[in-house]
Amino acid sequence: MEHLVIRGGKPLSGTVRVSGSKNAVLPIIAASLLPNSPCTLVDIPDLADVQTICQVLIHLGAEIERSGSNLVIHPPEKPAAEAPYDFVRQMRASFLVMGPLLARTGQATVSLPGGCAIGTRPIDLHLKGMHMLGADIEYGYGCVRTIAGPKGLQGERIYLDFPSVGATENIMMAASLASGVTVIENAAEEPEVVDLANFLSAMGAKIKGAGTKVIKITGVTKLKGVKYSVIPDRIEAGTFMVAAAITGGDVLVENVIIDHVKPLIAKLGEMGVIVNEENGGIRVVGCTECRSVDLKTMPYPGFPTDLQPQIMALLAVSRGTGIVTETVFENRFMHVSELKRMGARIKVVGAGRSAVIQGPVNLSGAYVKATDLRAGAALVLAGLKASGETTVGNVHHILRGYEHLVEKLRGLGADIN
Ligand code: UD1
Repeated sequence: MEHLVIRGGKPLSGTVRVSGSKNAVLPIIAASLLPNSPCTLVDIPDLADVQTICQVLIHLGAEIERSGSNLVIHPPEKPAAEAPYDFVRQMRASFLVMGPLLARTGQATVSLPGGCAIGTRPIDLHLKGMHMLGADIEYGYGCVRTIAGPKGLQGERIYLDFPSVGATENIMMAASLASGVTVIENAAEEPEVVDLANFLSAMGAKIKGAGTKVIKITGVTKLKGVKYSVIPDRIEAGTFMVAAAITGGDVLVENVIIDHVKPLIAKLGEMGVIVNEENGGIRVVGCTECRSVDLKTMPYPGFPTDLQPQIMALLAVSRGTGIVTETVFENRFMHVSELKRMGARIKVVGAGRSAVIQGPVNLSGAYVKATDLRAGAALVLAGLKASGETTVGNVHHILRGYEHLVEKLRGLGADIN
């Protein structure tokens, strides 16, 4: 499928069930390399990114079976030590196998993530963590190689300069099988970090403080496979909540942990959208014309960068001026030029860190291209609101993160093909 064609203008209504969290599943699949027996993972979305990390594990020697939404992962007795470029190029999160491989085999070679050098899309915090656990780090042939010292990995106190989600996860996985105690300071507090910690703990790891800024891991000598259900995807939930709001619809979003979407609930409330807990889900009733708000993306529990493009689509059709400031990523306004092609009035200011959105405008259908996953989601939302027909190209970006998106939107009454 190459394009999505949306005929907008219809308020969405009905019930939609959110899938398992992509960003929780990826590290959990990587962590399935750690135990010495199989894991059964429950509610695993069938997404391109999940297939990519599974391919990495298969390359390393794991056997993986899918049955419905469950994955059974048989870890290899002796994993191969190298994750190849082909997969790491496709998905940066493949780098998450570094921690588990290093812990299991004493060394790990992982290709440097595609199209970038260390410094521009850095992995420095992941490597700082591995180095502080006692690994030597070598670069060569487009790869980074980490090698544990003769005594294996040793627990240490590690301060992260920024609360990186991936670095916190990678260090937590490596430290689970290290000797002694590791303390991660200024750790990421995201729900996906907590879910990984819960999975590791279920396998026998000793972890305290996940979900706070200080995580303490006491290393153990082995982990055992378990059956584990992943948390629902808070970004998918948030995207459907904004879809209800932008179309002036009435949607019950099921399988969502309310706490995980609190920052969005707060912003939607300020904008005049009605959001209520109902039947274990969240019911969102859009308004005829929302009020603009300002917002700043921050690490959890701040407003998630992964919902910034979607709420910008909503701000474009809301009354007043809204300022969105992106503090997590350097270059995350690629959707702006595409939204402008649909009629949005947006100006990027402040050396590319803020966008000023002037509304309301009447969006009109256009041919637009998804530049990345969440930018693509924003264009779909704009297309659902716009008059006429919107064609969204580069759909593969969107399908990396939204399971059965077309079917779910159609189930809510959207005209989308
Ligand atoms: C994860 C999510 C992604 C989300 C992001 C922030 C997954 C698979 N992806 O990505 O959807 O947008 O968290 O919530 O879970 N950084 C460094 N050095 C490092 C690592 C990161 O400087 O070694 C910087 C990054 O360039 C970025 C910031 O830290 O500016 C946040 O990155 P990080 O939290 O690591 O995001 P990911 O784990 O890659």
